[in-house]
Amino acid sequence: MEVLMRNMFQAIGKNRSANQLAKRYGLRFGAARFVAGETIAQSIEVVRKLNQSGRVVTLDHLGEFISTEAEAMESTEMCLRTLDAIAESGVQSNLSLKMTSLGLDIDKELCMSNMRRILDKAREYGNFVRIDMEDYAHCQVSLDIYRELRQTYDNVGIVIQAYLFRTEQDIQDLNELQANLRLVKGAYKESPKVAFPEKKDVDENYKKIIKMHLLNGNYTAVASHDENMISFTKQLVKEHGIPNDRFEFQMLYGICEELQNRLVSEGYKVRVYVPYGIDWFGYFMRRLAERPANVWFVLKNMFK
Ligand code: FDA
Repeated sequence: MEVLMRNMFQAIGKNRSANQLAKRYGLRFGAARFVAGETIAQSIEVVRKLNQSGRVVTLDHLGEFISTEAEAMESTEMCLRTLDAIAESGVQSNLSLKMTSLGLDIDKELCMSNMRRILDKAREYGNFVRIDMEDYAHCQVSLDIYRELRQTYDNVGIVIQAYLFRTEQDIQDLNELQANLRLVKGAYKESPKVAFPEKKDVDENYKKIIKMHLLNGNYTAVASHDENMISFTKQLVKEHGIPNDRFEFQMLYGICEELQNRLVSEGYKVRVYVPYGIDWFGYFMRRLAERPANVWFVLKNMFK
């Protein structure tokens, strides 16, 4: 049952018509629990509150199904405006973005040139930009882009997903770049030809790559709500005397608030991933797919 629901949410999230329809109706069905708002101003207010509670943020302007150059340029403008708003408001936040939202599916060079504009502006402000990892079809090209950008920029990082078979090798290869990585379990539906189908194998691989990247001496963002992974990281850094400024924990906006606050009170750096924008539907569906129990929360909100 759970697998069926997971597959269903992942499929709806990828459906262009459902996404278009959702856009017209505004944040509904409890999506506001996971999405900070539709405008930059609303998202900055959320960041301010999170900062007040000791958490830093990464802001993500949501943009799915970018299929024209004009849409990619508009999405790039939103990223640039987000960097301006962060600087002007003085909040503590960096930026996360997806290569497809900058036009990767249209033309790699268009995406690269948009990304360079964003990284130039971020550099002016002393800020940092992280490339989210999308589905397997975009993995190699996203890593190629990262490698190329890393030759010019040191304010760029990327995400690596523990569920992929290739990941251990990627971690080894990225060591020479001293890559700043966000490590996640992985959120997309992938074929068993490329990804571990069993959760226990994903968890094992996740621990393995956290250990590899931290012991290689590289900055590591452990992005998970799984208390086992968090305890594992705490134990590992303690055993190896890795200082708190070499790593951070990251969690999604609206998920495991209590755990986020607990980690802050223990002295760890916690960064909250705060998405915003009118294109919230696909992101919302991925969050439901991760945890079908959230559906009850959605149903409750439908009748409010
Ligand atoms: P796991 O799924 O085992 O969940 C552990 C516990 O966390 C659950 O038992 C539950 O209590 C809680 N939990 C997890 N998800 C929840 C949800 N949706 N609602 C309520 N509770 C939930 N993926 C990707 O492919 N590319 C990317 O770029 C990113 N980026 C990213 C950034 C950040 C900051 C985070 C935290 C995660 C991502 N992800 C991602 C998503 C990631 O791959 C993964 O799908 C989710 O984090 C869920 O996995 P956990 O590690 O939390 O463990």
